[in-house]
Amino acid sequence: MKNSHKEATAWFDGLYKANRESKEKIPWARHEVNPLLKGYLENKKPKGDESKRALVIGCGLGDDAKALEDAGYQVVAIDVAQSALDLAQEKFPDSTIRFEKQDIFEMPKEYCEYFDFVFEAFTIQSLPVEFRERMVEAIVNTVAPKGELLVVAHKREKHFDGPPWPLEEIEMAMFQEHGLETLFYEIYQEESAISKNFFNVLYHKPESSCKQLTQ
Ligand SMILES: C[S@@+](CC[C@H](N)C(=O)[O-])C[C@H]1O[C@@H](n2cnc3c(N)ncnc32)[C@H](O)[C@@H]1O
Repeated sequence: MKNSHKEATAWFDGLYKANRESKEKIPWARHEVNPLLKGYLENKKPKGDESKRALVIGCGLGDDAKALEDAGYQVVAIDVAQSALDLAQEKFPDSTIRFEKQDIFEMPKEYCEYFDFVFEAFTIQSLPVEFRERMVEAIVNTVAPKGELLVVAHKREKHFDGPPWPLEEIEMAMFQEHGLETLFYEIYQEESAISKNFFNVLYHKPESSCKQLTQ
């Protein structure tokens, strides 16, 4: 068991560095926008003069952040691995996306309830289950009142000795326990070595609930 989240996330930086020249070996990288985010954006583009703020958590190579920028959002894309951010910045050199090295457990105070839309895909499951509740709370804290959060994660179907550690239904319910309402819930199917079922869940924050996290 890893006793700090820093130990639990330290390996990501090395993995991106080791695959700088062989990005196809990064196991989760699609090299294109996540199809579930694409589906969301087809219905939800901000209109004209609205300037909506979006956050991508654990942005990896940046394709999801780019799709949000293209849809008209002002985007902050965070990752704990500087090497991932370097690759993303290289891939999208002309974008206005703010690629920031941030740890979701230690977000700056100014990002508390700052984002109208938050996208999380596969970061929660990349940490052992003992970090689940804190991770959920940290993610919920970034969503503005009336804002939305789209979570994509593998559904746990059998014992899986991670990483990753796919999520169970009861763990997805933690978002509601932290004040969010479910707007859309789908089990999406796609072949994968981890599990063929994914949670595709859209939440809404009805009112402010921001708390300072306890370490
Ligand atoms: C499994 S990858 C998924 C990457 C991307 N979301 C995707 O769908 O391709 C998880 C990402 O989360 C990042 N990450 C892990 N723990 C994090 C944390 N505490 N704060 C921010 N990013 C984190 C990792 O560096 C990695 O890029």
